[in-house]
Amino acid sequence: MTDSVATPPTRPSGPRADRPLSRGRTDTWRHPAWVRLAHWLNVVAVVVLIMSGLNILLAHPHLYWGVRSTFADPWVSIPPIPNWLLIPQGRNLAEARNWHFLFAWIFVLNGLAYLLLGLVTRRFGRRLWPTRADLKGIGPSVVEHARFHFPTDDHARSYNVIQKLTYLAMILIVLPMMLVTGLSMSPGFNAVGGVLLDIMGGRQSARTLHFISAGLIVGFILIHVGLVIWTGLFNNMRSMVTGWFVIEPPGSTAGPRLRRRRPTDAGDAS
Ligand code: HEM
Repeated sequence: MTDSVATPPTRPSGPRADRPLSRGRTDTWRHPAWVRLAHWLNVVAVVVLIMSGLNILLAHPHLYWGVRSTFADPWVSIPPIPNWLLIPQGRNLAEARNWHFLFAWIFVLNGLAYLLLGLVTRRFGRRLWPTRADLKGIGPSVVEHARFHFPTDDHARSYNVIQKLTYLAMILIVLPMMLVTGLSMSPGFNAVGGVLLDIMGGRQSARTLHFISAGLIVGFILIHVGLVIWTGLFNNMRSMVTGWFVIEPPGSTAGPRLRRRRPTDAGDAS
């Protein structure tokens, strides 16, 4: 996806030089191997966590706030969930917990490696942290999203500001929230310190917050995958598989062909 608001960078966006392609297109280096590996491992881990989590939830499909479950008065009651959304297929609390805890470890170790490498290589600062200019362009970026109208030319070298803020919110807030709320319910963790459960406001609140973070992740996945498809499924997937991303000639856009963007429109996201 893209950044139509900030000035397009003139240098290649990665350590490898651009490769010219036919019809004025350019292949540019976008994702190092560790990002691609961490991303796809994270996808597998999150999907298994959500599907096994739904199976665990079915053991008592009601959510409450506070310390105790007040059976007569749940905050939310979960409707029946189809079998194909569960790991393992069919209700099975013991096996679902095994899957959930195994993939929680994979998720944590993979996330820590991604965070560490992102900081050490300074990729977070370069690629994900919004600049002042990015933040000033947030209004036009909102308009761009509302119109589903994203540039695929040189502006696509960097993430747009909404994309940067959303990725950061996932990486720094929602995914850690899922982890911390999950950890707070672990009897083993509580046995050695146990303050997290009090901070959450009790076991039922922790359970509900864990469910809300999982819901936010599902919402993110739906929008994220929708935009990946909209802005060029093949090109985006190729970049997350091989590292290389195609930049289209100046003025190219993804989305409705309302109007071709001209190079002079650089500061205009409409
Ligand atoms: C089937 C599901 C998914 C698909 C097909 C998918 C696809 C992609 C693609 C193609 C990109 C590169 C976008 C670009 O270069 O402009 C990307 C980036 C990203 N995705 Fe996903 N994704 C999926 C699930 C997830 C999940 C579950 C999460 C986290 C909960 C996630 C978080 C991210 C983040 C944070 C980035 C930016 C990574 C970086 O540059 O460091 N994705 N995804």
